[in-house]
Amino acid sequence: MKTREGLAEIETESDPDFIGPGRAGPSFYNRLQSLNRDITVLIVSALKPSHYMDAFGGSGVRGIRIGLETGTESFIAEKNRSSYLAILENIKNNGLSIASYNGDFIRAIREYQFDFVDLDPYGTVVPYLDETINFMKKPGYLGITATDLSALTGSSQGSLRRRYGSSVKPGLWMHENGIRNLISYVARRAAANDCSITPLLSFWKGHYYRLFVRLIRGRKGADRMLNYIGRFEMSTVSVKESDFIGPIWLGKMNSAEMLNSLTVPDYLKKRDLEILLDRLKNEDRMILFYDTRDLYSGKPVINSMESVILAIKDSLDRDVFPTHFSTTGIKTDCKRDDVMKALGMT
Ligand SMILES: C[S@@+](CC[C@H](N)C(=O)[O-])C[C@H]1O[C@@H](n2cnc3c(N)ncnc32)[C@H](O)[C@@H]1O
Repeated sequence: MKTREGLAEIETESDPDFIGPGRAGPSFYNRLQSLNRDITVLIVSALKPSHYMDAFGGSGVRGIRIGLETGTESFIAEKNRSSYLAILENIKNNGLSIASYNGDFIRAIREYQFDFVDLDPYGTVVPYLDETINFMKKPGYLGITATDLSALTGSSQGSLRRRYGSSVKPGLWMHENGIRNLISYVARRAAANDCSITPLLSFWKGHYYRLFVRLIRGRKGADRMLNYIGRFEMSTVSVKESDFIGPIWLGKMNSAEMLNSLTVPDYLKKRDLEILLDRLKNEDRMILFYDTRDLYSGKPVINSMESVILAIKDSLDRDVFPTHFSTTGIKTDCKRDDVMKALGMT
């Protein structure tokens, strides 16, 4: 079936209008990831790498959009033979002549120099990280889409321990914990390979996490970066939770410079994209957030988020922002006790 996304027209065997996490199969396409690909287009346009690799092609939509919409040279790898043949057709039908490879993307990374590698496997990126970090060009950029949220959030404690070696719990903070867990893991794998990362943009959307980092070689930078990984005391944000979680990434998840350099072309302007980019600008005001479901626990009245934000602003004369991680969460640089006082909770 044919579908349009961005400036691309894609033929795919899966139903493009199916809404859900997507089913693995030849010429895999998932409309739920279109925002992910829109943001990839914005990032690649802003960073202007020399050679972008879509390491897990599927229908080829991501690499094709990079070729059509950014002016960067794109390359698509795909292991599955019939998906690869579909990618060739899609490349041709979009009037492009971008290079593609039928096989394990790691072999292509070893042979050619890519300074932007985008990993989008089914599930976890863990099995692919070390070789990618080792063989891609540095300095460079690494894009990661992870859909193993049950492991990253701690919903599946066994997978969390085996894959990420950390301790977090599912609950109100699970998606920020999940992303900080993923960044921490990528940072530790970079450090193990004498490299360091700087997160450029990180977000959660439905069934996936998306992360873009800059990767550079160097032991000193790796040593410095490791200082941003540690355990976090939940009682600084929560009334109910007092455990330590981690190791998680305690540094910034987004770069203000990166966010400010993104330009959204008219054909990609959409409300959900605008809201997300706006929210990401304030996600690093604090580690995690205050959640009204936690602050008001046991109390009968739950105020609207607008009135919560206004009450804190008025009482403390400080900025307060919504977070994309929770519809009932806020980000501010005030202490938990001051927020509680401003809300009349103490
Ligand atoms: C989640 S889909 C990719 C979706 C695609 N990036 C998109 O945005 O629509 C994963 C794809 O990677 C392919 N694949 C799995 N392992 C691979 C590997 N080691 N090298 C290249 N392709 C691989 C699978 O056949 C599948 O088509």
